[in-house]
Amino acid sequence: MKFFVDTADVPAIAELNDLGMVDGVTTNPSLIMKSGRDIIEVTKEICDLVDGPVSAEVVATEADAMIAEGRKLAQIAENICIKVPLTWDGLKACKVLSDEGNQLNVTLCFSANQALLAAKAGATFISPFIGRLDDINLDGLELIEDIRTIYDNYGFETEILAASIRTANHMKECALIGADVATAPPNVIKAMANHILTDKGLDAFLKDWEKTGQKIL
Ligand code: E4P
Repeated sequence: MKFFVDTADVPAIAELNDLGMVDGVTTNPSLIMKSGRDIIEVTKEICDLVDGPVSAEVVATEADAMIAEGRKLAQIAENICIKVPLTWDGLKACKVLSDEGNQLNVTLCFSANQALLAAKAGATFISPFIGRLDDINLDGLELIEDIRTIYDNYGFETEILAASIRTANHMKECALIGADVATAPPNVIKAMANHILTDKGLDAFLKDWEKTGQKIL
């Protein structure tokens, strides 16, 4: 499973990128707002840092305007992936922009039917939002499973980019289901390294080591 980082925080992306943990980046208007940076400037910086696709989201709601914004975003760098919302207009923009050779991430997906439409419209990635479904007592992971089955049934090449990931457990479940990509905030990716038994075990080893009076260096 590929790891994308869901943030516009450049130092946080750089830290994970140095560890080989970053296969791409996703941003959205809220994350750009949080960064306090200009969208073009910060997105360019991220694209220069990371080899994989960097999603930058359009904010227009009508297809022609989305297409114009998408074309502008695509000029930022070769690895830009244009992100459009899963609306009827977003699907129209997806079709036109993907036919022009761009990578497209269709976002705000909350149903298997929406994912089916995005694949038909030529999306490179579909972004089903797990956490926001869980927030309203629906099963976000079940949606990932459904989309996996449908895409496999018909050999769609659109990649499932599990999004709105809130916990390390979401990452494990997405990997088990077979999501192609998971995008998560840096703190969730880091939390995957945590285990109480690792901490306890290390503590015990270090206490015993102290008793030996030895040094390695
Ligand atoms: C994905 O591309 C979105 O930017 C993101 O995963 C949304 O996550 P949230 O529901 O935690 O805001």
